[in-house]
Amino acid sequence: MNKTLLVRLVVTLILIVTNTAAFAGQRDVATDLTTLLRSARAITVNSNTINDPSAFNISNFVTETKRKYEKSAGKKFDESDVLLTQLMDAITYVIKNAKEGQYVGKWKTGAYANKFLPARFARLVGLRFEKLTNGKAIIRLTTSSQLLVNTENKADAWETDVIEQKFRNPSWPKNKMHDNYTNDGFRLMLPEYYTAGCLSCHGGEQGKAIHAEPVEGQLGAFGGAISVLLYDDD
Ligand code: HEC
Repeated sequence: MNKTLLVRLVVTLILIVTNTAAFAGQRDVATDLTTLLRSARAITVNSNTINDPSAFNISNFVTETKRKYEKSAGKKFDESDVLLTQLMDAITYVIKNAKEGQYVGKWKTGAYANKFLPARFARLVGLRFEKLTNGKAIIRLTTSSQLLVNTENKADAWETDVIEQKFRNPSWPKNKMHDNYTNDGFRLMLPEYYTAGCLSCHGGEQGKAIHAEPVEGQLGAFGGAISVLLYDDD
């Protein structure tokens, strides 16, 4: 083998290895973000604070969120991880505001009037996070067109494809996420399923009243997905 060819080969190999490492790194970052949002959101599925967010205890909320995160992620909450701490800051900001009665998107009338809904919590956190990261990263809760209520959370083409072809396909393994490099950057989605807490609103007749199409939520059925986009640096 001549020298130039060897050099080229080595350079190509180095590129492949570093790209794969970058990909794995982004997957870890995105996974940690979904785990953190999910941990916090689970705590918001509580009828006390849904009905009356002034009942939130901020420091308990933060401690409990980190505890749940550490349990699911199987590692310590890394305070030096910039995006992770920005997401924690966004979560704390939204809970503090909600405690003071400041949360947008309240239903003015009906069964959910003035309630602090978990889906609204997720949306507000996503908006705050985008701001804190200067638009470098996005996290949001979206769902299938059948279950969508707030059109601002409508899935884009990539998300729709993942939801319809993968997450809603009965053969898709439970809790399996999907990720991809796209023209925008690294994208990852994690499916969410209805738990008993969700069904207190999404189940039965009252569940049918929430969505555009009358869908009755079932325990363990696909309910939505957390979507992360990490924009490329350049
Ligand atoms: C207190 C009742 C209540 C609980 C508990 C609840 N939801 Fe909802 N959910 C709603 C309402 C009402 C909406 C419509 C939200 C809106 O107007 O933005 C909604 C919207 C949604 C949406 C659609 C989001 C959108 O922007 O269109 C998803 C997905 C969802 N909920 C999933 C869940 C899951 C999963 C759980 C359990 C982890 C859950 N919800 C718990 C009442 C509830």
